[in-house]
This record gives sequence, C-alpha cells and structure tokens, in this order.
Amino acid sequence: MQVGIDKIGFFTPNKYVDMVDLANARGEDPNKFLIGIGQKEMAVADATQDAVSMGINATMQYLDKIEKDKVGLLVFGTESGVDQSKSASLFVKSALKLKPEVRAFEVKEACFGLTAALMIARDFVRVHPDQTAIVIGSDIARYGVNTPGEVTQGAGAISLLVKKDPAILSLNDGHSAYSEDINDFWRPNNSKVAMVDGKYSTQVYLDFFTNTFEGYKKQKNWNTRDFNAILYHLPFTKQGLKANRLAIADQDEATVKRLEDSFEASKQLSMRVGNIYTASLYMSLLSLLENKQLEPNSLVGMFSYGSGAMAEFFSGNIADGYEKEVNVNKTNEMLDGRTQLSVDEYEKIFNDALIDPIDGQELTSDEKSGVWYFAGTQNHIRQYRQK
Ligand code: CAA
Repeated sequence: MQVGIDKIGFFTPNKYVDMVDLANARGEDPNKFLIGIGQKEMAVADATQDAVSMGINATMQYLDKIEKDKVGLLVFGTESGVDQSKSASLFVKSALKLKPEVRAFEVKEACFGLTAALMIARDFVRVHPDQTAIVIGSDIARYGVNTPGEVTQGAGAISLLVKKDPAILSLNDGHSAYSEDINDFWRPNNSKVAMVDGKYSTQVYLDFFTNTFEGYKKQKNWNTRDFNAILYHLPFTKQGLKANRLAIADQDEATVKRLEDSFEASKQLSMRVGNIYTASLYMSLLSLLENKQLEPNSLVGMFSYGSGAMAEFFSGNIADGYEKEVNVNKTNEMLDGRTQLSVDEYEKIFNDALIDPIDGQELTSDEKSGVWYFAGTQNHIRQYRQK
C-alpha cells in the first residue's frame, strides 16, 4: 500500500520586507543578502498571526476538498508553540470543526517537527488505511532586530493531508536518521527570540546532511544519479545550495544539471518568505511542484534538519497527475498581494509582536476576509477568529 502526501496547504502573512532595504538599513552590501545568503524578501508576522492561526490558514487551503470525518490524527510540529501545556492541534481542530474522535497533539524538535509529524502520520495511515491524518508545520523565525540572524527570519505554515494512494507524493520505506546533543540553535522558555551559534550551525547542518544522505544511499543501495530532485530544509537558500553542491560533487553532467535545476525550482518560495523552521523543507517541495514539470514516479530525496540536533534523509515518488493538486497562481497571488514594509515599519511590528497583549485586549487584523487570526486573550485563554 502506498501512503504519503495527498494535499498541501501553504500560508504566509500579508507583510514583507525587501532584503535590499534591510541591507541598506544595516550598512551591508545588498549582494551579501541577495547572493551570499540567497534571500530576496522576508515575511513578517504582526501580533495577530502566530503558529496556530497560520496553521489553520494553511489547512483551510484544502479543507473543502477532503472528507473531514476520515481525519483520525492531527499532529502539529512547531518551534513557536503558543502554550506550555495545551497543544496547538486542539485550537486547530476546533477551528476546522474536526470530529471529537481525532487524536490531536503537538511535537517539538526545532525545524524537524513537521518531519516527525509526517512519519507518525505515515505509520498511522499504514495501520488505519481508511483514515487520514493532517500534519502541520508552522513557525515564526525570530532572531531579533539588528542581529546576524535577522536576514534569515520569516513566517509561514504548511499543512499536509496524509493518506493511502496519495495524489502528490508516496513515501518510500526506510530513512536515515542521525541525532546529537549539541548547541547550535535553541530558545529558552523565557525568550521570544532564538539563540544561535550561527557559523557552527551552518557547518553542523552540512555534516548531518553528508551523514544521512550517504547512510540512506547505502541502506537503499541507490546512487545520487537515481534522484530526480533533492529537497533541503532551507533556513536560507544559500545553505541548501551548499548541501546540494556536496550532493552533486563528482557526479556526471546530466545528474549535476538535473539536481541543480530542481534545486533552483525548490528555492523560489523560500527566497520570498524566509525561514519557516518546521515547514521550510515542505515549502521547498511545494516550490518544486509549482516550478518544475516532473515525470510520474520521479524520485525525490528529502533532507530534514532540526537544530539541537536531529536530521533525517528520506524519499518519495511523485504521483501521476500531481499537477492537479498545486496552483502556482494561488501561491503567487498570496505573495504578490502582500504589503511591503519599510524597515522602520518592520522593526515596530516585529518588536510589538514580542509583547503579549494585555489580557482582555481585543486585537484586530488587517488580513483579507476569510483569514484566521489571533485576537488576544480572554481570561488568559487564547482567542482565534476569522475575518
Ligand atoms: N556579495 C556576495 N556574497 C557576500 C557578500 C557580497 N557583497 N558579502 C558577504 N558575502 C557572503 C559571504 O562570503 C558568505 O558566503 P559563504 O557562506 O559562501 O562563505 C555569506 O555571504 C554570509 O556571510 P557571513 O558568513 O559573513 O554572514 P554572517 O556572519 O552575517 O552570518 C549566518 C550568516 C551565520 C547564516 C547568520 O545569518 C545566522 O546566524 N543565521 C541563523 C542561523 C542559521 O540559519 N543557521 C543555519 C543552519 S541551522 C538550521 O538550519 C536550523 C534552522 O532553521 C535555524
């Protein structure tokens, strides 16, 4: 039985900063951000968008196309959780009006969270083939104004429906995992912004890539040339470019071209959204599907990395007719419809969003009609509303 990704929903908030403006404001050469880091625009979440609201909004993109009563599992992976106890899944379940019998919980391991959720969902559907699972990755990457990590911030969510006989990507058996207790990136409970050993984190990412990619090829008895595309967790696109260069070193010309072309297609959304932690790898998948024509059964390798650190390499095969499940115009409409912020406006919105609203204060959203948002707390209970 084939099990895998049947639907993909994507959401990013309605504001962004241009990287040339940010570079000028920080006294950097714009090419450092555009080429050296590989980012063009950065999504900015105001106080009314959080991991939960973005996760709901991503799932709403496909909710009317699925059989809701078949959803038996709802797992939410996030680094930007909104409660120390209650899972983000329960807020989402309520907004989506899923049945009470759904198993709903949250998982955490930095940017690895959505992969953990996907693997749990794959196994769940294998055991319960008549049920489906929704898995969500949703995050706001925050390092702080005027920090080296600032250019690698972002905000957004991906929601996946996992089922048997999937319409987009069937997941292959096996995986190559690797974990180590290290301190490359972390966020203490009392901090709204991440702490990071930036240069170290970029090197560990590459070491974990080599380890899991080589381990996976050995396990499956496959070669690099067998892959039609390799997708990466993209904290910023240059990081994925460096991993892809490792993957294609010493390969034949056709393999190099194929994997360079597919990487180019897979980084388009990340360049305009920035890092969305748990969902970044899956935004690369959406970007590939929207920007490249793939043959049915194409083999797609996937590298997931979560600081702290945990990495996994796995793969899937593209389903025949996957094109019907993606809509590049809808994605472009969301991105092109955003408001461009000046750096001053971004700084104010960013810093305001770090402060929790006073209990009882009603927040209003400037997102378009139909979009869910965080409306503040009532008796310290988070309120989510739809415009
Ligand atoms: N034109 C073109 N390129 C330029 C340039 C110019 N004018 N000026 C500089 N560059 C290049 C540099 O040569 C460098 O390229 P290489 O990496 O190929 O050497 C690149 O721009 C970046 O320059 P620096 O290394 O000097 O940049 P920095 O010191 O400002 O920091 C960073 C970069 C470490 C990535 C920092 O942004 C950061 O800490 N980011 C957050 C951490 C992060 O994203 N880590 C990724 C791995 S961890 C992970 O993946 C989990 C996660 O999501 C967080």
